[in-house]
This record gives sequence, structure tokens and C-alpha cells, in this order.
Amino acid sequence: MAETTIDLTGFPRVEAYAELRGQTEAVLEGIRDEVTAMATMSALIHHGFGHLWTGFYRVVEPRLLRVGPYQGSLGCLEISFGRGVCGTAAAERRAIIVPDVEKFPGHIACDSRSRSEIVVPVNGPRGELLAVLDVDSAELGSFDQEDQHGLERLVSWFAGARQ
Ligand code: SME
Repeated sequence: MAETTIDLTGFPRVEAYAELRGQTEAVLEGIRDEVTAMATMSALIHHGFGHLWTGFYRVVEPRLLRVGPYQGSLGCLEISFGRGVCGTAAAERRAIIVPDVEKFPGHIACDSRSRSEIVVPVNGPRGELLAVLDVDSAELGSFDQEDQHGLERLVSWFAGARQ
């Protein structure tokens, strides 16, 4: 479906996320399935921006993340809470922006080309942690507050998905 993915690289960041949100809502209209939504968002974010790896790690046990829908090279299968960027974001339930992965102690390098990343928590309708969204870039310093806000707004879909 690459031909139906909007190229977001030419847009200012705020506009890119507005486009992405509109496209996501249009594609997911009438859908309530979380895995379908994760797969759709992964594809649209990944190909829209041209990232290195984009996907979800789902909470499958109280303190364990397991890889869910993603785009990119083979991801690590399981990450314990507190480990790496994803596990830290899950344990602390906060977004983490890492401008240089080599400076993040305990970073898990699934793909050695990864240079920077952002991870945002994904909450469900009852305020429970469902997953984290992990986006990795092959360039240093790819993510900032605008990415955080854009991605947080995008995954707020999951808080309303099963009302
Ligand atoms: N970078 C992540 C690991 C997952 S992958 O890179 C796909 C981390 O340190 O949490």
C-alpha cells in the first residue's frame, strides 16, 4: 500500500501529524480492533516519515512487553519493564525521547543502524497501559516535543477505541 501512504517528509512536523491523524482516522473508521489499529498506525507512520523501525510492544504480562505489529527489520521479541527505552517508558508510563541511543544506558539495539528514538505509552479506555509505541531513526536527534505530542494524540485512539 506504499502508493496510498502520504509522504509526510515535506510537511512541517505539526502539519505532518495532523495529516497522519486524519489519514489514520479515515482508514480506521468503523474499526475497534486494537491490533488492526496498531498495524495501520505502524504502516502509516513508518512509510509516511521514512523511519527505520516503527511499531508497538504490547503489555502481555504485568511487567512484560512483547512485540506487536511493526514495520522494519526483525524486532526484539520480549522486553521486561525497566529494560531499554521501551521498558523504561512502560515502567514509568511516560514518553521518552532519546536523541542519541548510545547515551541511553541499557538501550537495546535490535538494529545496529538505530541512532535516535522516541517511545510513547499507549493507554486503554480504563487508563490501563496497553502498549508502547516505539519509533527508531537511523539519524541522530530525529525526534522532539512535536513528535511526542503528535504521536501521543495519535495513540489516544486506543483510549476511545472500545467505549
Ligand atoms: N530500541 C528499543 C528496543 C526495541 S527495538 O529497537 C525495535 C529499546 O531500547 O527499548
